[in-house]
Amino acid sequence: MNDRIYIFDTTLRDGEQSPGASMNTAEKLRLAVQLEKLGVDILEAGFPASSEGDFEAVYKIAERLKHTEVAALARTSKGDIDRAWGAVQNAVKPRIHTFIATSDIHMKYKLNMSRDEVVKAAVESVRYAKSFTDNIEFSSEDGSRSDRDFLCKIFEAAIEAGATTINLPDTVGYAIPQEFSDLVKYVIAHTPNINKAVFSVHCHNDLGLATANTLAAINAGARQAEVTINGIGERAGNTSLEEIVMGMHTRPNFFNVSTQIDTEQIYPTSRLVSMITGIMVQPNKAVVGANAFAHEAGIHQDGVLKNPMTYEIMKPETVGLSTNKLVLGKHSGRHALHSRLKEMGYDLSDDELKLVFTKFKDLADKKKHVVDEDLEVLVTEGILRAADIFRLEYLHVTCGTTVLPMASVKLTINGRSVQGAGYGNGPIDSVFNTIAKLTGMEPDLLRFSVSALTGGTDSMGEVTVRLSDNGLVALGKGGDPDIITASAKSYIDGLNRLEYLKTHPVKTSEAL
Ligand code: KIV
Ligand code: ZN
Repeated sequence: MNDRIYIFDTTLRDGEQSPGASMNTAEKLRLAVQLEKLGVDILEAGFPASSEGDFEAVYKIAERLKHTEVAALARTSKGDIDRAWGAVQNAVKPRIHTFIATSDIHMKYKLNMSRDEVVKAAVESVRYAKSFTDNIEFSSEDGSRSDRDFLCKIFEAAIEAGATTINLPDTVGYAIPQEFSDLVKYVIAHTPNINKAVFSVHCHNDLGLATANTLAAINAGARQAEVTINGIGERAGNTSLEEIVMGMHTRPNFFNVSTQIDTEQIYPTSRLVSMITGIMVQPNKAVVGANAFAHEAGIHQDGVLKNPMTYEIMKPETVGLSTNKLVLGKHSGRHALHSRLKEMGYDLSDDELKLVFTKFKDLADKKKHVVDEDLEVLVTEGILRAADIFRLEYLHVTCGTTVLPMASVKLTINGRSVQGAGYGNGPIDSVFNTIAKLTGMEPDLLRFSVSALTGGTDSMGEVTVRLSDNGLVALGKGGDPDIITASAKSYIDGLNRLEYLKTHPVKTSEAL
């Protein structure tokens, strides 16, 4: 019998700390439902003490999920633990995840606490959490740079106080696989009551080693892996779920462990995260990148045609990448659209389907073949981000070699129509200037990128912007066959996200 590895997904907590990523409550709920479908064991829904918005999202996710464990993060303070419990208590299986830093550098400079004081705080908070639930995780922040024997001491004390999962994070992505594996083995061997808890690891990707470190730790005896979809997260991100799950799945004889992940939900979940957060997946990203299964070299193509396993160690279908790319067109009906969306992992209500169908018909009038990537844009714009403040109603642009680029724009702002015109250096500049004037927001444009979603000149253009306003940074994404319209949509998406950040401030400065 294989040992079971528990997959603890923190896309909604650590993942949301990715620079520029922000999700509203409706988006978080949708993602949480998809993560449950993917089969994660534990879903860390947020850090309720950090903001009202986080509390609300965790609360709603806890109420909604049917069988997945829902965790909420808390520092070692009663206030944080009260908030965490207040948010997760209605979950089928609630978990409180409390943490404190254990490395000498963090204890001295960040916490200004001695080792004994840190152990005391850990024990008190686990005990306090135990007054609410028996399902408690304790994490030693900056664990990989902590003294080994001190780690054993604090873990032993936390387990004694009631912790049922012990998590060793490589918070700053400093560990090297062999060294991390040795550390995990050492801690397991020298923590007397370790068999009363599940041993977990949580790795960051600063040196590009998060997946390698997590797999090394599993080989050394860890039984819970903390991960995010697409590896998003603080700085260089976290261990990516798809990489470690497919690592274990592809090399069963090496790892001899199993997970309950439905691998065919990996690709739909990855796309959903990318569409919701606006963070693109790099094309060469393992497992879910656009090129992950694309063979360019002639010798490879020849081999793959003769037998796919010559160059493919995983089948695209195993991760949910459909090889049956059904192309829809203007004669396709609602039923065909519905079943394609279902295959792509979107379970839409009747009303949502109706809305997407109308948008689909509009697009099919402009574009002969509507492919999966186009449908994703329609779902994102029509459903996932439907509660936005600013929406584009109308856009007209004049530009060319002899005229001053001008844009006329009509927007709805909280349901009220406003319109105006403006000019700029080029068509996109004129559109952005006009939108800025109408919304009264003038963020700095930090990044602007355009790409074609598929091949062909009628492909959807996908534009991503990165906007900054008064210290807040947000990404915006928009898609349309016309790249000027796509640019307008991405700018408006970025403004909506900035507005959301303004109204949902994070209270604590060290909100992880
Ligand atoms: O990276 C880290 O140390 C964390 C902890 C809160 C688990 O995210
Ligand atoms: Zn982390």
